[in-house]
Amino acid sequence: MSFPKNFLWGGAVAANQCEGAWLEDGKAPNVTDVMVGIGSKDPGLKWNQDKQKYEMCLDPNKVYLSHEAIDFYHRYEEDLELMAGMGFNCFRTSIAWGRIFPNGDEEEPNEKGLAFYDRLIDKMLELHMEPVITLSHYETPLHLITEYGGWRDHRLIDFWKRYVTTVFERYKGKVKYWLTFNEVNNMMRNPLVAGGVLTLNPENPEDPIGSTTFEDKWQAYYHLCVANAWTVKLCHEVDPQAKVGCMLTCSSVATYPYNCDPDNVWGAFDTVRMSNFYFGDAFCFGEIPGYVKRVWNEHHFEPVMDHQELQLMKENTVEFFSFSYYRSSTYDKESDVHGDTGGLTGKENPYLEGCSPKPWSWPIDPQGIRYVLNVLYDRYHLPLFIVENGIGLDENLDENGHIDDAFRMKYVEDHLKYVHEAILDGVEVMGYLYWGPIDVVSAGTGEMKKRYGFVYVDRFNDGHGTLERHIKNSYYRYKEIIESNGDIL
Ligand code: BG6
Repeated sequence: MSFPKNFLWGGAVAANQCEGAWLEDGKAPNVTDVMVGIGSKDPGLKWNQDKQKYEMCLDPNKVYLSHEAIDFYHRYEEDLELMAGMGFNCFRTSIAWGRIFPNGDEEEPNEKGLAFYDRLIDKMLELHMEPVITLSHYETPLHLITEYGGWRDHRLIDFWKRYVTTVFERYKGKVKYWLTFNEVNNMMRNPLVAGGVLTLNPENPEDPIGSTTFEDKWQAYYHLCVANAWTVKLCHEVDPQAKVGCMLTCSSVATYPYNCDPDNVWGAFDTVRMSNFYFGDAFCFGEIPGYVKRVWNEHHFEPVMDHQELQLMKENTVEFFSFSYYRSSTYDKESDVHGDTGGLTGKENPYLEGCSPKPWSWPIDPQGIRYVLNVLYDRYHLPLFIVENGIGLDENLDENGHIDDAFRMKYVEDHLKYVHEAILDGVEVMGYLYWGPIDVVSAGTGEMKKRYGFVYVDRFNDGHGTLERHIKNSYYRYKEIIESNGDIL
């Protein structure tokens, strides 16, 4: 089994889950800094009745692991060398927007933040790893959320333009692949984190996430679409060699009808559009899809839109499509569909062999990745980049300081075999980046216990730990796969 020449092999992390140093060198809090897991319904925000606004208010009884995370901010050299030891030719991380523009609305960038990413990106290049940089991985500066209501406010587009232009100019010639908003299509389920939007005059201030209105979400959607188009345009102006892709969670593309009841077939189809393509179509075709306009019409609502911005969207579509895939789900009209970071969860699929161990229990469906790759390629005809796939397990070092994570390797190998099938189907796949090649803080639950790494990090849910790194068995197997360009699978 051979993968294409120049296939990008590696792994992906995000600033807010690995860097720590949450207030160091001028950085101000971002939206995930006030949460213990984005699945939490209860962010560290408190309504100030006098000022009629939300303010940061951390809960002293909670452990915000992301504040120190795995201290990648200070240990990135050692960590990147460990990644290079597996033969990575590519590494994805994000720039924390709040390191560059701490509050998001400043005129001038924070030089210390830029200097950190200078060092980080240079180290990747020195180790022959292609940097893939996410511009916002759940990292909207908190100030933009509390003062402006985040992406519901048109002014964010200008703040964003300033931020992306700054980093495009700074890393010109060094970064070839930029991703815009991580898994932004989760925003209807999680407006605060995935959409960076908050209603500023909430009906129920105790529930800032649930209070975000239909109107604010869709206004934010439109602004995010315009910002995405500006990103493409500005990137080309500054560095014509670089490429911009979108980044969507596409586990939900594999939402299968539970059976052939036409209601379920339609329900699955519509779920995929309204959880996924509603962004993909806007980013790749440059148009707001008709099925989105129908939803607006039914609510007698239309976001404030500008003719020139709609034209900008049309002219500046993404050049590749990156996505995460963790699992599939089913649609059955009798059951509720829930969601979390991994994707959607419907009625249990009796045809799948298993799921990840409890308490997470994410269904495992390697064939789903072939399905998703084919669906996306047929629809968009764009190069596809798998920038997240992996499995989180609760692991501890044995008495010899080892971890045998054969279960993880089976997950990876099974998925890669189906990636290869998709390549044989004619799909253009740019690369495969494993999520969390070193243990990081879980996005969904904010814990360390959910470990994805080929490298173990000694840190625990209560915050203690030496932060020492230990290689797991999977490290050697992933290295062999990369070395053989997939031949040994
Ligand atoms: C993706 C996110 O949704 O899934 C990552 O982009 C996240 O940030 C990953 O870590 C896995 O989810 P979790 O909740 O297991 O960390």
